[in-house]
Amino acid sequence: MEQFILQTLFSRERIAERVRLLAGEISKDFQGGSLLLVGVLKGAFVFVADLIRHLSIPVEVDFIRLASYGDTMESQELRITKDLELPVRGRDVLVVEDIVDTGKTLRYLQDTLKRKGARTVSTCVLVDKRQRRQVEVAIDYVGFVVQEGFIVGYGLDYAESYRHLPDLCVVDRKGASEEFPRRSSGPREKGVGDDRPM
Ligand code: PRP
Repeated sequence: MEQFILQTLFSRERIAERVRLLAGEISKDFQGGSLLLVGVLKGAFVFVADLIRHLSIPVEVDFIRLASYGDTMESQELRITKDLELPVRGRDVLVVEDIVDTGKTLRYLQDTLKRKGARTVSTCVLVDKRQRRQVEVAIDYVGFVVQEGFIVGYGLDYAESYRHLPDLCVVDRKGASEEFPRRSSGPREKGVGDDRPM
């Protein structure tokens, strides 16, 4: 496999701190209630695992997986390839994403979950990558904001590699021999930049 130069963008310590704070906010906002947490596969599995262990409210966990079809980013259409197994109707649902890029996935999920009868749909995103946003989406809980770049680690991949890295890292483009492919032919570009104003 081709090796890239990786630079740590957000260390495991900073991630752990943000996750703890996010879980605190979520627990406070839903105090007295319960949550159906929907993790979006595959990237969110590490974030979900850490987040739920800091929640102090009752929570059920389910996962969903999407794939996009189409040659260009503009023409891409999303489909569910692994659906939820728990009922959504009447529930307070929290969608947990590793990264938001164009915003299409999150918007699709928000619409789908509302259509399925969720009482409320909230969103928790570890990395809000802004530069390529095509669809405005409401994000309730954000770990970090970045503008551009390709981020791997802590569940995020490049061609299925690097998900195991404990830090969020940015791939140094100088180390790449070609442009990164988009999702239709592989993973999508995900991004770099400033920290989240908290
Ligand atoms: C990533 C991420 C989101 C989506 C965001 O998934 O986990 O689901 O892209 O992109 P968008 O805002 O442009 O819609 P990816 O396709 O990389 O799959 P993976 O989670 O299985 O790695």
